[in-house]
Amino acid sequence: MPLQLVSPNFSDLLTPNLEIGKFPDSDSHVRILDLEKYQNQKVILYHRLYPKQNTSLIVLLLILDTLKEIGAQVEVVAPYLPYARQDKTKLNGEIGSAKAICNLLARAGCQKLYTFDCHFLNAEGEHKFGELKIHNTSLAKALVEQAKGTLGKDFEVVVPDVGATYLVKDLGGKHFKKVRAEYKDDKVDYRDVESLTHDFDIHGKNFLILDDMISTGGTMVSAIQKLKDNGAQKVCCGTIHGLFLFNCLDKLHKLTDCVFSTDTIPSPQAQVSIKTFLP
Ligand code: R5P
Repeated sequence: MPLQLVSPNFSDLLTPNLEIGKFPDSDSHVRILDLEKYQNQKVILYHRLYPKQNTSLIVLLLILDTLKEIGAQVEVVAPYLPYARQDKTKLNGEIGSAKAICNLLARAGCQKLYTFDCHFLNAEGEHKFGELKIHNTSLAKALVEQAKGTLGKDFEVVVPDVGATYLVKDLGGKHFKKVRAEYKDDKVDYRDVESLTHDFDIHGKNFLILDDMISTGGTMVSAIQKLKDNGAQKVCCGTIHGLFLFNCLDKLHKLTDCVFSTDTIPSPQAQVSIKTFLP
């Protein structure tokens, strides 16, 4: 059995045994209690990388580097991998941050990353991305079970774009085709949803819309509106990673019968726990 190291940002699920604080200038201060214990040992480190993704990544690199120096073999459990959406680049010189982050973690000594519904992996199981070995677990089925509390047994599951179809491929789910608009005014940080098209029956049915993440909520709002405009009855939104940026939760609550996520990112909307899925 590997020795466990648990970050304070995992304290809702496991008992922390790492100290993480900050200096007055906000540099991170990290202390691994009983460091000698981990020398040449197998270690599993539980550490969330969101919110405060940049700081949390630096903390992880500091821990990995220190453990590497003492010969520990470290696997990391990070339920949500930030930067995963930039797995492709469009502009000259733009950095593919998903791969860069994976490489940094591997080079710092992460022998395997355990994560959930990683955006750039469209299947469960073992993968390699850049230099990093990744074990990806899907929580889609658990979200579908949770939706039964509000929708009963009689509902269809739909994902908002083709990229997310793997979430529902074993569940008989349907998918929209999403087209995003071009970047506006040279900004490269967000593209609106331009259109959603479908080729399945909607009228009179209940739906659970499932997506790997809700960030600004733009994708979900478009999908909800499409379902409602075409005569859907009850509509719920479920997501693995609930970032719920800006005021999108208010909007989603007004438009739907329920909105929920897992606790890969803790929030009041987290109704499905990853606890029983942890390695
Ligand atoms: C996109 O490919 C993802 O699966 C999500 O649909 C997207 O990241 C959600 O972002 P937002 O909530 O900002 O529309």
